[in-house]
Amino acid sequence: MSKETLILLYGGRSAEREVSVLSAESVMRAVNYERFQVKTYFITKDGQFIRTQVFDHKPKENERLMTNSTVDLSKAIKPSDIAEEGAVVFPVLHGPMGEDGSIQGFLEVLRLPYVGTSVLPSSVAMDKIITKMVLETQGIPQVPYLVHLDGQSVTETLAQVSERLTYPVFVKPANMGSSVGISKAENEEDLEAALDLASRYDDRILIEQGVDAREIEVGILGNQEVKTTLAGEVIKDVAFYDYKAKYIDNKITMAIPAEVDETVMARVRNYAEQAFRAIGGCGLARCDFFVTADGQVYLNELNTMPGFTQWSMYPLLWENMGLPYSQLIERLVNLAKEVFDKREKHLI
Ligand SMILES: Nc1ncnc2c1ncn2[C@@H]1O[C@H](COP(=O)(O)OP(=O)(O)O)[C@@H](O)[C@H]1O
Ligand SMILES: [Mg+2]
Repeated sequence: MSKETLILLYGGRSAEREVSVLSAESVMRAVNYERFQVKTYFITKDGQFIRTQVFDHKPKENERLMTNSTVDLSKAIKPSDIAEEGAVVFPVLHGPMGEDGSIQGFLEVLRLPYVGTSVLPSSVAMDKIITKMVLETQGIPQVPYLVHLDGQSVTETLAQVSERLTYPVFVKPANMGSSVGISKAENEEDLEAALDLASRYDDRILIEQGVDAREIEVGILGNQEVKTTLAGEVIKDVAFYDYKAKYIDNKITMAIPAEVDETVMARVRNYAEQAFRAIGGCGLARCDFFVTADGQVYLNELNTMPGFTQWSMYPLLWENMGLPYSQLIERLVNLAKEVFDKREKHLI
C-alpha cells in the first residue's frame, strides 16, 4: 500500500516562529514512516512559502529544517502549491497567522484535511476578549477583567480600573500569544505605559485582575468524544512567565502530573472540556488555568496549537496518560480526516 502524505507547515509570521521550527523537527522525527511520507514547507517571517525537505524515512538526528536565517528563497512556491489530493496537513504554527483561523481557512479553501481546530474555535481562542465572553456564558470561572478599545478615553479606563479591579493588573493585546505586548501594571502610571505598549499590537486590549497563582495546564484531544489529561504544572522561578522566561532563559520546569488535590484536578479537567466544547473545538488544545493558594480555579486561556516539541507540556501530558508522542501524532491525523470528511458531507 502506498504511503499517506503528511504535510508539515512550520515557521510562520508570529513571534513564536522559532518554537514552531522546533515543534516541526520533533514531529518529523517521531512520525510513523511505515504509514507516512512527510513533506515540509517553511513559511518565512514575511509570509513566503518555501518548499523544504521530503522524508520517506526517519531523518537523521542532525537533520535541520529551514529557519529565517538559513532561508533559501529560490525554493519559494505559491502557497496553493502545497495542495495535493489525499494529503493531510499538520500546521505546526503558533500565534497570529497560524493558530488564529487564517491558515485553517486557507487549508479549507484548498480542500485539505488538517490537524487541529477549525476556523471558528481557532479565532475565538486566539482572541482573549472573545474567549472571556464565551467562558462567561458557560459560567466557567475566570479573573475579573475590563476591555479597552482603541479610541476610548485612557482616563476613563484608568478610572474604571480603580473602581473595579485592584492592582496589580495584567494588560494584554487581545490577539497575541507568547506573552508579546503583555505587561503587569502595579499602578496607574504603569497602566498607562502598558496600554501604550499593548496598543502597538492590537486595537483591542484586555485588562485583567492579577492573581497570585500556580499555573496548571490540561491537555485536550478529540472531536465529538473529548478526552482530557491529568493536569501538569508550569513551575516558574520568575514572577511573570514572559517571552524571555519562556523561550530565551528556559526558566521553566514542569511537574506532571501537577500536585493538586483531587477536587482541583477534577474541576480543571471538567472546565477544560466544557470550554473546548463551548468554542466548538476539535482535534486538540491545551487549556491553561490559574490556581490560587486557597484553591480557587480560574481559566486563563485555550491554546489551539500548543507548543508541540517532544518536550513540550502538551505531548508530555499525553505521554503521562499512556499515549506516546508518535501515537499522539497519528491520533491527530485520524481526527483531522474525520473532521474533513464530515465538513465535506455538510457542504451538499
Ligand atoms: N491575570 C493574571 N494574573 C497573574 N499572572 C498572569 C495573569 N495573566 C497573565 N499572567 C502571566 O502572564 C503569562 C502570559 O499570559 P497569557 O494570558 O497566558 O498570554 P499568552 O497568550 O502570551 O500565553 C501567564 O502565563 C502568567 O504567568
Ligand atoms: Mg499563556
